[in-house]
Amino acid sequence: MYKANFGFMGLGVMGYMLALNMERNGFRVAGYDVDAEKVRSFGTKYPDKNLVPCTTLSEFIDALERPRRIMMMVPAGKVVDDAIAGIKDALEIGDLLIDGGNTHFPDTERRSKELDSQGIIYIGTGVSGGEQGALWGPAMMPGGQPEAWELVKPIFEAISAKVNGEPCVGYMGPRGAGHYVKMIHNGIEYGDMQLIAEAYDLLHRGLGLSNRQLHEVFDEWNHGELESYLIEITADIFARQDPETGQDVVDLILDEAKQKGTGKWTSQNSLDLGAPTPTINAAVESRILSAYKEERIRASKILFGPRPAIKVKPKIVIDQIRNALYAAKICSYAQGFGLMRLASKEYEYHLNYGEIARIWRGGCIIQARFLNDVRDAFSQNTGLTNLMIDEKFAKAMNAHQGDMREVVALASRNGIPALAFSSALAYYDAYRSERLPANLTQAQRDYFGAHTYRRLDREGTFHTQWVDQSESE
Ligand code: 6PG
Repeated sequence: MYKANFGFMGLGVMGYMLALNMERNGFRVAGYDVDAEKVRSFGTKYPDKNLVPCTTLSEFIDALERPRRIMMMVPAGKVVDDAIAGIKDALEIGDLLIDGGNTHFPDTERRSKELDSQGIIYIGTGVSGGEQGALWGPAMMPGGQPEAWELVKPIFEAISAKVNGEPCVGYMGPRGAGHYVKMIHNGIEYGDMQLIAEAYDLLHRGLGLSNRQLHEVFDEWNHGELESYLIEITADIFARQDPETGQDVVDLILDEAKQKGTGKWTSQNSLDLGAPTPTINAAVESRILSAYKEERIRASKILFGPRPAIKVKPKIVIDQIRNALYAAKICSYAQGFGLMRLASKEYEYHLNYGEIARIWRGGCIIQARFLNDVRDAFSQNTGLTNLMIDEKFAKAMNAHQGDMREVVALASRNGIPALAFSSALAYYDAYRSERLPANLTQAQRDYFGAHTYRRLDREGTFHTQWVDQSESE
């Protein structure tokens, strides 16, 4: 029997779906898992497919053509180290190991260095799109040696999502670059989701829209500049009833958001590198706050605020929220791309922002019409320092900033928390402020710690003797 072109290690949902996608695209695919039942089902569920189930690692290694291309689809963390330890001695120089999980990029940095010294090519690949994306076309963000990319390019291009015939995959950069870009994708995903959640809160608790009306509003938004996968699924969610109770599913779901950590990593990294990402941070913190359910219940009986009741014409408010959502989204993406600019320099990733936006247009969770403009902005001006100052986006910000203010004011007056909207507006106002009150911060630092300051009117470093020494004695 001829050898398989590609192998999957880990036949959970994502590994299995990617294998089926690859097979559908004409490749012979081997699969191995420590769970024998998963291997059995890989072999028996679709007997006519060009799949090679392998019950042992040596069978798996033997089944693959050289250089071997093996993708690990296992949970991020120690399991990846264990999987590498289990297979690396069986690999030969030039073989290729790919990590397709949501791995924290410093782990990919470490592993690629270790494996490189042993002659094994390592590709950390961000894969986005969930189960359906994996089966029908995900967005893929591979990083590693450029020559390694050439070895997987035809296969990845075949299985990835397509937008206007262009595959949603491309080489991100060396070492951990692929997983870094996927981490930023997830940070932005958190921001988008939180902004949508706050829009929902304003429309539902504030304006009193029913789920049916919310379905219609989001469906309409999905036909304009907000058109995106997340807006589309949001519209769907509002229309879904629970078959047992007949109630709307969204009303039955506990209001505690979970997280696996990728959004938090983005915030942590932004603090490490000194990049402002307040909207992404607000999204992470909103999830954390949501998890304080019991404390919130107690506090709701102790701490008071206005009762949400927006008294403005619904049509006006709905349009304001739509425009504010678009403007805040621009702010959030500006933050994510701003962080990547610093990281690209710090880690020598040489990221191509236009290419990243191009890949994100399809297959992934944040896929959106808006990303066409983001791609154009960064392709036309590779040195663009902030998305908000691109001509097209600046025009949109100038047109919608007023509505963003109205929405933040509306939220505040109605006691509706809007951490993401507020932070986006404050980011916008801070970024466009020629003068910020940091002069006072500097004066305070100099006052209590003699930390010195720089002056506007002359070069150099200065210190003021704030306390008269003779008085303080
Ligand atoms: C994707 C998603 C996917 C997943 C994350 C987020 O791009 O397909 O980002 O990777 O949804 O794990 O999960 P949390 O919300 O649990 O952090």
